[in-house]
Amino acid sequence: MTILITGASGRTSGYVIEALLASSPTSDLRLLVRSEVAIQKLTAKYPGLKPANFAIGDLLEPSTIGPAVAGIDVIFHNGPSFIPNETAMGIALIEAAKAAGVKHFVFCSVLHPILTKLLNHKAKRDIEEYLIDLSATLQSSVISAAWNPKTWQGYLDLHDLAEVAAKVILDPAPHNLSRYELCGQNCTIEDVARELSAHIGKKIAIKNISSEEALAHFGQSGGYGVEAGDRMLYYYNKRGIPGNTNVLRWLLGREPTTWKALFQL
Ligand SMILES: NC(=O)c1ccc[n+]([C@@H]2O[C@H](COP(=O)([O-])OP(=O)(O)OC[C@H]3O[C@@H](n4cnc5c(N)ncnc54)[C@H](OP(=O)(O)O)[C@@H]3O)[C@@H](O)[C@H]2O)c1
Repeated sequence: MTILITGASGRTSGYVIEALLASSPTSDLRLLVRSEVAIQKLTAKYPGLKPANFAIGDLLEPSTIGPAVAGIDVIFHNGPSFIPNETAMGIALIEAAKAAGVKHFVFCSVLHPILTKLLNHKAKRDIEEYLIDLSATLQSSVISAAWNPKTWQGYLDLHDLAEVAAKVILDPAPHNLSRYELCGQNCTIEDVARELSAHIGKKIAIKNISSEEALAHFGQSGGYGVEAGDRMLYYYNKRGIPGNTNVLRWLLGREPTTWKALFQL
């Protein structure tokens, strides 16, 4: 597995490089730096590193990013902060990763990127959004379907939500300042129909309905509700909205409830 580390001469990535060198072969690593001086500094600190472990590039100069990401499996991106182009740098790297067929993009963000009044947090929030948009379009694998039945959705059984809510409400202090993304299962409407068909022994068909029909079903007939609903359905239709199930698993202390488990209740 080949790994690219950005901000390699910086403080934070230094810790990551140290951890990687302790557990994976040096040949797996490529460190993105801006100068020969940085290469000398890093090879003096980590004598195991060879010239082949380095790529010289500038995240503000797209022509230098392509060669740096070529042949890479996993990128760990830790961009510089407090510069006006931080978001553009992140997006340029994500685009280069996509073009090069990089399999995983690990973005080292910041605590509470939604604090948009902090400019360096907002810059990272915008990179996260770009990455989520792109990851969702890359994922691919009859019930009324108001969006493409092949796009991935992150589903959460409301019993699981309630169990987590109760834990937090009844013992709030350990959860102070935390922010949890709760997702129990990623699947498509087609997957749900297939699971239900198998459970009841009868074919379930998927009936596509228009966003107007869906919004009428939700009791929305105009104004903000229709605008918000329309945007949501458009987004789900184009990209889906998958999430990661690890946080919910950890909070529950058990496997999250899946559609299959729900049908068997
Ligand atoms: N350190 C922390 O405690 C902490 C905490 C939370 C979040 N973070 C986040 O972690 C990130 C890195 O922080 P840090 O403290 O490790 O920063 P740092 O020590 O200042 O390192 C910044 C790195 O970015 C590189 N860089 C600057 N401009 C570049 C460009 N145009 N193209 C490519 N590389 C460029 C620098 O390379 P040169 O050496 O060539 O300048 C350096 O390696 C920041 O986004 C920060 O918000 C850090």
